[in-house]
Amino acid sequence: MSPVPVLGREAVLAAVDPVAAIEATREAFVRHASGEWEMPPKVYVDAPPNGDFRAMPARGEGLAILKWVTSFPRNAVRGLPAVAGALLVSSAETGELAAILDCAAVTSLRTGAAAAVSALTLARDDAREVGIIGCGVNGAWAARCLAAAGYEEGVCFDPRPTAAEELAGELGWRAGSRAEAAAADVVATVTPGEAPVILATDLRGGQHLAVLGADAAGKSEVEPAALARCRLFCDEWKQAAAGGELAGAVAARLVSRDDVTELGAVLAGEADGRRQADEVTLFDSTGLAIQDLGIAIAVLEAWRERRIEAAASIEL
Ligand SMILES: NC(=O)c1ccc[n+]([C@@H]2O[C@H](COP(=O)([O-])OP(=O)(O)OC[C@H]3O[C@@H](n4cnc5c(N)ncnc54)[C@H](O)[C@@H]3O)[C@@H](O)[C@H]2O)c1
Repeated sequence: MSPVPVLGREAVLAAVDPVAAIEATREAFVRHASGEWEMPPKVYVDAPPNGDFRAMPARGEGLAILKWVTSFPRNAVRGLPAVAGALLVSSAETGELAAILDCAAVTSLRTGAAAAVSALTLARDDAREVGIIGCGVNGAWAARCLAAAGYEEGVCFDPRPTAAEELAGELGWRAGSRAEAAAADVVATVTPGEAPVILATDLRGGQHLAVLGADAAGKSEVEPAALARCRLFCDEWKQAAAGGELAGAVAARLVSRDDVTELGAVLAGEADGRRQADEVTLFDSTGLAIQDLGIAIAVLEAWRERRIEAAASIEL
C-alpha cells in the first residue's frame, strides 16, 4: 500500500477556496438528488453534557468517505473549537485508504458553501444584503462563501462583539444588532441553537433564510410562528425532520414531507424553488456527508496535481 497523505487545515483551505467550495457543494447536491452518490444516515453518539460525535459516510465518484466529527458547543468557553475530528477517504475500487483530511476545515467550507448555494438558488435575484447571526467558526465561513457568491453588503451580529466586528472588517461589511441582521435580504443563522434568533416579527416578504445552527435534535434557531410563515426547503428530509430546524414542527405534526422541498431536487430541476417574489424561503441545513465528499474530492484532486502538500504521510 502507498503511504497515506495527511492533509491538514492549511492544505484543505489552500486546495479549495469559497468559490470552488460552492461549486463542489452544488455538484454534491445534484449528484445525490440524481441517485449517483450514496449516503447512509448520519450516526450520532451523544457525549453529555459536552455535545455529540457524528459518523458520516458517503460514496461517489470512485471514493468512499467517513467523517468522524464533533459538535461540542460548550467548547468555546474552553477556547477549543466546537467542530473537530478527521475525515477518511478510501478508494471505492480497491478499498485502500487514500487520504486523511482535517475535518473542521472541510466542514467549514461545505457548511458555508451550503448557505451560499441555497441563497443563489432560492433568494431573490435582487437580494443584496446578507445578515449573519452567529459569527463563530462556521458563521464566518458562511459569510465568506456568501461574499464569494457575490453578496457585497452584509451585517454581522454575535453576542461577542469582537467576533462580529472582526468578521465584518474582513469582508468590508458592518457589525450590527440581531434585528438588523435578521432584516437582511439573505439571513444565515449559525448559532448553537439554544434559543430562537429569528422571530416572526423579523420577517419581511422576499427574504431567504439559511438556517445552519440546528443540526441535532433539540436545537432550534427559528421561532415556531416564524417557521410557519416560510416556504420550506432542506438538505435532506430524513435528517432535517429528525434533527434539524424542522424537527420540532415535524414532531408537532405541523410540517410533513409534502411541505418541504430538498435543495438537490431544485438544483436538479425536479422541483420548484422560489415561486413568488414576496415569499420567505427557509433552507434547513443539517450538514450532509455528500457535501463533505464533494470537498474531499476537490482536496484529493489538488494533492494529486501537486497544488498542495501533505503535512505528513503515514504507512498503515
Ligand atoms: N448545518 C451544518 O452543516 C453545520 C455545520 C457545522 C456546524 N453546525 C452547527 O452550527 C452551530 C455553530 O457552530 P460553530 O462551529 O460555528 O460554533 P462556534 O462556537 O464557533 O460559533 C457559534 C457562535 O454563535 C454565537 N452565539 C451564541 N448564541 C448566540 C445568539 N443567541 N445569537 C447570535 N450568536 C450567538 C457565539 O458567540 C459564537 O460566536 C453549532 O450548533 C454547530 O453544531 C452546523
